[in-house]
Amino acid sequence: MVAHKIAVIAGDGIGKEVVPEGIRVLEAAGRRFGIELSFDEKDWGCERLAAKGRMLPEDGLETIAGHDAIFLGAVGWPSVPDHVSLWGLLIPIRRRFDQYVNLRPVRLFEGVPCPLAGRKPGDIDFWIVRENCEGEYSEIGGRLYAGTEQEMVTQESVFTRFGVDRVLRYAFELAASRDAKHLTSATKSNGIIHTMPFWDERVKAMAERYPGVKIDQYHIDILTAHFVRFPDRFDVVVGSNLFGDILSDLGPAVTGTIGIAPSANLNPEGTHPSMFEPVHGSAPDIAGQGIANPIGQIWSGAMMLDHLGHKEAAAAIVGAIERVLASGRSLTRDMGGSASTVELGKAIESEL
Ligand code: NAD
Ligand code: IPM
Ligand code: MN
Repeated sequence: MVAHKIAVIAGDGIGKEVVPEGIRVLEAAGRRFGIELSFDEKDWGCERLAAKGRMLPEDGLETIAGHDAIFLGAVGWPSVPDHVSLWGLLIPIRRRFDQYVNLRPVRLFEGVPCPLAGRKPGDIDFWIVRENCEGEYSEIGGRLYAGTEQEMVTQESVFTRFGVDRVLRYAFELAASRDAKHLTSATKSNGIIHTMPFWDERVKAMAERYPGVKIDQYHIDILTAHFVRFPDRFDVVVGSNLFGDILSDLGPAVTGTIGIAPSANLNPEGTHPSMFEPVHGSAPDIAGQGIANPIGQIWSGAMMLDHLGHKEAAAAIVGAIERVLASGRSLTRDMGGSASTVELGKAIESEL
């Protein structure tokens, strides 16, 4: 049996607390399903930046380019400006490894208190497909006349036909594979007059190839309102880098807590390693207390096993999460309980 080589970047803040729980459950799944995993731990993050002047070594990404996947906690700490830490580590990984799909499920679980009245498990169950390598996240722009009354900054968005079409194709394929076959596109072509009309055009062109998929599109402003009022209406939602980012915090929030939300930064062709990480960040407000919810990390581990071809093991982890949540035991504070990160991690391990 060939071992899967996984680069592990716990990163900053609660990343260091939830990653060990993710590994605990991955190792348990490995034992049960006979999957060999080897973990290559990297100390990359804000502490390394302070000590050595870089978030990661100069050749860091090349040292993991041949790995099978990357398992990441969170990046960012208040001592470092966020654009410095994130453009120093997370965003370069997504780009170097062409992880152009950021796949983020949204599900309401039995046992997790939902902030919306009258919603029950099963009502909310959809996928967000976020473009992950271009769009509003760009280095093009700059500052002029700094410190004067005329000071101005610009920030360009970049939408290429290649980049938009490939993420749309992924989203249409995903929608076509599901029962509801329903794709919602996030746009803002009423206010943003170049990129968003182009996005809509490409959606329309791609739709011709998928006659079985029902499509709708909403401007991002009303779409956020619909996420709260009618989350049961969504099946697959596709959005640009920034819109997808915003929607993928809102989605989990309407299902109770962002602490459970996972993500897969996918290079679907498998030319490069894909990366699996929770949607949330380093949570400086609760870091060091041992109370962070590890489910976003653990579920990300399940997505990683799924990506590596171990469907049964991935489903078993999700099943264990479901049963522990439904039991109401070992819930962390964000879900109304009082369990620690480690207690919840261990409960999922033993359920598995
Ligand atoms: P955050 O996700 O870190 O925290 C937002 C809120 O949610 C906080 O109140 C936090 O306590 C809570 N929360 C988050 N995860 C939780 C968990 N697992 N269990 C319980 N509560 C949880 O977002 P932020 O405060 O905007 O960002 C903090 C830092 O993290 C910043 O440096 C930011 O840039 C970075 N960040 C990194 C990533 C990433 O690495 N992918 C993602 C988002 C934010
Ligand atoms: C996420 C995060 C990142 C993003 C930040 C930290 C750069 O919010 O993964 O959702 O915007 O992509
Ligand atoms: Mn985000």
